[in-house]
Amino acid sequence: MIYDFDQVCNRKETDCLKWDMIDTVFGEDDLIPLWVADMDFPVAEPIQKALEERVSHPFYGYTRPGKRVVDAVVKRMKDKFNWEIHPEWVIFTPGVVPALHIAIRSLTHPGDEVILQQPVYYPFFPVVTNSGCQIVNNGLKLIDGKYEIDFDDLETKFSPNSGLGSNPSRIKTIIFCNPHNPVGRVWTKEEITKLGKIAISNGAVVISDEIHCEILFDDNHHTTFATISKEFEQNCIICMSPSKTFNLAGLDASSIIIPNKKLRDNFLNIQNGMVPVPNLFGLTALEAAYRHGDEWLDQVMVYIKENLDFLIEYTEKNIPSIEVIKPQGTYLIWLDCRKLGLDNPELKNFMLKKAKVGLNDGFIFGEEGSGFVRMNIACPRVILKEALKRIEEAVNRL
Ligand SMILES: Cc1ncc(COP(=O)(O)O)c(C=O)c1O
Repeated sequence: MIYDFDQVCNRKETDCLKWDMIDTVFGEDDLIPLWVADMDFPVAEPIQKALEERVSHPFYGYTRPGKRVVDAVVKRMKDKFNWEIHPEWVIFTPGVVPALHIAIRSLTHPGDEVILQQPVYYPFFPVVTNSGCQIVNNGLKLIDGKYEIDFDDLETKFSPNSGLGSNPSRIKTIIFCNPHNPVGRVWTKEEITKLGKIAISNGAVVISDEIHCEILFDDNHHTTFATISKEFEQNCIICMSPSKTFNLAGLDASSIIIPNKKLRDNFLNIQNGMVPVPNLFGLTALEAAYRHGDEWLDQVMVYIKENLDFLIEYTEKNIPSIEVIKPQGTYLIWLDCRKLGLDNPELKNFMLKKAKVGLNDGFIFGEEGSGFVRMNIACPRVILKEALKRIEEAVNRL
């Protein structure tokens, strides 16, 4: 089937966070919303069909992920990432963020330290601090328009004499965003290996949030942290979900893969009774997406790539004071607005009140995000064009 992603669909009055809560979130109501990470595209037809079929069986009692769902995850890992996993390694949670909270609680005690790599997906911050832990920032470096991991700094943070990450034995884990939101890096095997070696040799477990692992541009290839070696596999918690790839964020279904039995048991002990399994529609959608969603995914990726090319060309030609940080993956684009010469409140005000677009302010991703904004380009091109035109006109009026 051929999908038409140019079609603009009305998402208003559907309890849609992106479109219905504009006023609540931004305090303005006539913005083009290009913020929260879901797509303005209908889902793949096989997913909708599977859900309709499930709805038509009017029994919505307690549910547990059955063999078919687990097998769909096992098969996806093998097919996409050449990772052979055992069914018992797979745990289901209603979203990756709840899983991160559980993971941190299972790996740390209050007062421990957790490494983040800022600028980074901002819900990671309360994940750490709500557990009474401290954030140790191993900030990414922006070199010639591309973000890199600062490995020297990472080693220093673990070093006994640094006084930076304070007591090194207190760094229990890294939340590794792989691929990285918001900077769009798809980390290479070499980078992942280097990071993992530093973490594991210092006794830290790596929580690898791989939610964006199937949204890749050009020939970029996703490497699952666990596939580097058996040692890596035994020292990680891998967070997977079809929600970004197949636009299912409202259905809250993620699979968390933990090969190490002790780590898995600790995770389950915290999850049990507190965080449920996904609801049955989430599980239905997850299975349908993994088994039958690829025709849609191939097409949506072509469309998003065209949006990206359009964005890059448009900004280079018409808004040269804004630089697109060219992503290797994710549909969340990091825009360097520092040449506009605005401080954070001014930039926020500019995008909201002058350009009338709803973006994510860069500074919420950490101090390194000052002067940046994040734009979601998973929308019909006509919406993206209108947003860019508004920004261009507002810049010209500055
Ligand atoms: C890196 C990352 N992790 C997690 C999430 C959210 O996951 P969930 O909705 O499954 O809690 C997002 C959403 O944008 C994300 O970018």
